[in-house]
Amino acid sequence: MLVNMKQLLIEAQKEKWAVGSFSVANMEMVLGVIKAAEETNSPIILQIAEVRLKQSPLEIIGPLMIAAAKNAKVPVAVHFDHGLTLEKIRLALDLGFTSVMFDGSHLPLEENIIKTIETVKIAKEYSACVEAEIGCVGGSEDGSEDIAINCTSPAEAVKFVKETNVDALAIAIGNAHGNYKQTPHLRFDILEKVKNSVDVPLVLHGGTGILPEEFVKCRENGIKKINIATATFDSVQQNVKAAYESRKINGYYDLHAAEIEGAYKNALKHIEIFDCANKAQLFI
Ligand code: 13P
Repeated sequence: MLVNMKQLLIEAQKEKWAVGSFSVANMEMVLGVIKAAEETNSPIILQIAEVRLKQSPLEIIGPLMIAAAKNAKVPVAVHFDHGLTLEKIRLALDLGFTSVMFDGSHLPLEENIIKTIETVKIAKEYSACVEAEIGCVGGSEDGSEDIAINCTSPAEAVKFVKETNVDALAIAIGNAHGNYKQTPHLRFDILEKVKNSVDVPLVLHGGTGILPEEFVKCRENGIKKINIATATFDSVQQNVKAAYESRKINGYYDLHAAEIEGAYKNALKHIEIFDCANKAQLFI
């Protein structure tokens, strides 16, 4: 069942669970994530970032993600992650994505506000919701840059939400994309201040490598969408490697099955930590 992302986040805001937002790059990852969601009766978000379109063109993977969501037995939102250009954001909306992110976190605040307002205006035509980011999550979505973390200012968060009217706000609290060099410890003091200053559901990027107990603290304190990308890609790769090593792969379709299983195992693990199992029934 394809749903609007806002619907999921608003429901999660009433309690202490969060929705897992899993980045996908091919059909096997989509199938693995949906399998985990259906088995646990969890709402879920499928997402792809603009920087990943060089490997997985939006015109091809987008319809696949939408079809998978429509066929799923659980609520699934389809989200365009880290949108950098209005052209690709509009394409995602034309394809039926129910949510888009405009990432202006690298821009001066005023410019980020202007471009986010433009995105909100476009998304409204499609009744889709918009996520934006302030402060700067470290690393980069495709590992090509090592951007420094710049924690979100609670005062700027208030101004940003008021002026843009976004539906979800990604914040930087010590999180970074990709594998962390050292175990990260999030700035819960900043999270608390932002949570107490704005009403919108908050988003945590850079989920790979965050300690389970820190995830729990996040979902109990206003983080309602948690992005996982690298952990999925690593899990798929490691599962395939292990299957080859144990001689379980004897042809293409064994490889296909090992990829699905890798994405499935990773999604299952995070669904449990995010406490979203059995929350699908809230949307019937
Ligand atoms: P990770 O690759 O660190 O899990 O980050 C995912 C993410 O935030 C996608 O937007």
